[in-house]
Amino acid sequence: MRFAALAFAAAAIIAAPAGAAEVKVGYISTFSGPDANLGIQMDRGFRLYQKLHPQVPGGHTLEIIQRDDTGAQPAVAKRLAEELITRDHVSLIAGFIFTPNAFAVMDVCKSSKVPVLVLNAGTAGVVSACDYAVRVSFSTWQAGYYLGEYAAKKMGKTAAIAYANYAPGKDYAAAFGEPFEKNGGKIVADVPMPFPAIPDFTPFLQKVKDVKPDLLFVFVPAGKWSTGIMKTYNDLDMRKAGITLIGPGDITQDSELPNMGDVPLGVITIHHYSAAGQRPENLAFVKAWKEAYGADSTPDFFGVQGYDGMAAIYHAVDATGGKIDADSFVKAMKGWKYDSPRGPMMIDPETRDVIHNEYIRRVEMKDGKLANVEFDTIPMVKDPWKALGKK
Ligand code: PHB
Repeated sequence: MRFAALAFAAAAIIAAPAGAAEVKVGYISTFSGPDANLGIQMDRGFRLYQKLHPQVPGGHTLEIIQRDDTGAQPAVAKRLAEELITRDHVSLIAGFIFTPNAFAVMDVCKSSKVPVLVLNAGTAGVVSACDYAVRVSFSTWQAGYYLGEYAAKKMGKTAAIAYANYAPGKDYAAAFGEPFEKNGGKIVADVPMPFPAIPDFTPFLQKVKDVKPDLLFVFVPAGKWSTGIMKTYNDLDMRKAGITLIGPGDITQDSELPNMGDVPLGVITIHHYSAAGQRPENLAFVKAWKEAYGADSTPDFFGVQGYDGMAAIYHAVDATGGKIDADSFVKAMKGWKYDSPRGPMMIDPETRDVIHNEYIRRVEMKDGKLANVEFDTIPMVKDPWKALGKK
């Protein structure tokens, strides 16, 4: 037995191409607690890429060391990152549904010089917080800014903004509000809502109803948060009161639509991904997803971000010859271009943040199911927060 095992090990060593490395990646995300579904969707995309591409380029191998931050828990995320670096000796850390966790780990990124790949956390300033961070997901200002412009020009003159009161919510309020007012609109109510526990939205949306704006812009995290908003919007009869709900795609998350009844029908959002997108890369992605996870499952923006995140890791492993460190990782990722299911995307060589299309979409019934149907595209959007010199 012992001899056979040794012989097998020797054969494996001989079979591995010269210079092939095992790359250890720490992977911190939310897999339990009320927001677990967000991390599970992202993980499905992350793993689907590996399943469809079993061979890492260059003959290298990947060891993904997965850790659960359990929700918006920055202290937990920070401790996990420190452990992954000191005990497991990872050369890259990827993940983060929640902005506070990503910010906490950016401190570790700076002090340890271990690079970080952000797979969700959307607050504009996240990537600037460490020189060795790269983001494949989105910035709040990409969707928020163009929705502010679009809404003022085409949808109404007064708006209330209601948002989960933490970094991406405050970001979205500014990203939407500034262009909305610059284009002739007026923000008539600013309604922060508690975070991180999901609140009863009734008193907050009632405040909005009392002001009677044309539009209600909402940012809350996807998942149960967005379903709660839809329910309260409906319970308070706000549509009948003439108040049109809008927001980024978080409020009409593809995988959450089946839990929302028909309330979202007609809701216009802007975002970088819809499962109903018709480009060939997306049709293939959705097909592979359903084959892997069941005909009733659907990808969403978390899923595509996970998928593209693993594509980015493969690229970085290949481009660095399996030797990922802060400098080689950032060099490999700057200017990286990829034909994602979301459309073309690239990593801005100046900011290390993603550049991608933003789609204007309306929730419609498609083949008997609600879907975010894209009807207009703002091509290759650079984060306006950085382009406008915000700090
Ligand atoms: C974030 O914390 O950055 C975040 C979380 C959930 C979302 C979007 C952004 O749906």
